[in-house]
Amino acid sequence: MMTTHALQHYLPDSCRLVSGCMHLGGEWDNSAITQQHISQASELIDVCTEVGVKIFDHADIYTLGKAEQVFGEVFKRHPSRRQELYLQSKCGIRFDDDSGPKRYDFSAQWVEQSVEGSLQRLHTDYLDILILHRPDPLTDRDELARALQDLVKHGKVRHIGVSNMHWHQISYLQEALDLPIIVNQLELSLGHLDWLDEGVTAGNRQGVDINFTAGTLEYCQSHGIQLQSWGSLCQGKFSGKDTSNEPETVKQTAKLVSHLADEYKVSADAIVLSWLLRHPANIQPVLGSTRPDRIKACVKALDITLSREHWYQLYVTARGARLP
Ligand SMILES: NC(=O)c1ccc[n+]([C@@H]2O[C@H](COP(=O)([O-])OP(=O)(O)OC[C@H]3O[C@@H](n4cnc5c(N)ncnc54)[C@H](OP(=O)(O)O)[C@@H]3O)[C@@H](O)[C@H]2O)c1
Repeated sequence: MMTTHALQHYLPDSCRLVSGCMHLGGEWDNSAITQQHISQASELIDVCTEVGVKIFDHADIYTLGKAEQVFGEVFKRHPSRRQELYLQSKCGIRFDDDSGPKRYDFSAQWVEQSVEGSLQRLHTDYLDILILHRPDPLTDRDELARALQDLVKHGKVRHIGVSNMHWHQISYLQEALDLPIIVNQLELSLGHLDWLDEGVTAGNRQGVDINFTAGTLEYCQSHGIQLQSWGSLCQGKFSGKDTSNEPETVKQTAKLVSHLADEYKVSADAIVLSWLLRHPANIQPVLGSTRPDRIKACVKALDITLSREHWYQLYVTARGARLP
């Protein structure tokens, strides 16, 4: 029976949180990076290292490559820092350009080109994990598998992960691949509940509009695929952002989060995270914050365990309807 997470053999046990780098590097345009952007990346690395967060989540597209570029500038100036960290980056999304509309591309040529670009920008010889960003309907899985195996064989990539894939897609790709898929990154959060509603409404008409493929959480857990969650902090909508224009469920959830933050003596952001961490799927939240104070407060989520009753109270309040 496979229940041990492949990622856990690779990473220290303490790596329960991931730092998301999507907001580094300034605007999503072709303006040049500045010293301020590089300092922001350097501070992010410093604070994360200090609190034990060692995995950094990138993508070739984040701020059009500039998120990777500012990280690379930090490694250029302090080469020894690279070895202390785990870097994951994603490939496969292409924005509109002269050749076509926004599209996905898992062709061998694009995957190889994307990885080369990430390595150059990050100023590193290897990615710890290469993540396939979003499923490409035109994937030739044998061609993709060969490309991924070659990248690993040549030491450019150490491990392979996927993102936004349901279990049928992962299983189909895995059949062709000689390497284990070790990560699946999905939108899982208190603000995006289909991943839970799918299970609790099994066989119930309340479940007809739910968009989460049944069995994905279970498949990942039983095949040693680490679940990572994006959007984990719900962009702050339950933990401090202005809720005046939000629906009543968001207002009520934010109120409850604030009450629980007082009760557990942690920040509201930490409560939102602790709710994810309480789920037995061993979800690894990817934190999108770049603010040192918020990151330090978020890590306190690891020190608390929500009671079953508080966990359900948050779930039911956020879904805005009683369970069936
Ligand atoms: N695989 C995928 O398809 C995919 C898609 C999207 C994202 N991702 C990854 O997941 C990471 C996180 O995603 P995300 O940024 O969308 O989600 P997030 O972690 O829910 O949100 C982070 C954003 O919310 C702000 N925020 C958090 N708490 C706040 C609060 N209490 N008050 C005000 N603002 C608050 C942060 O600002 P501050 O920086 O000021 O704290 C930051 O801009 C990304 O960095 C990326 O690595 C992956």
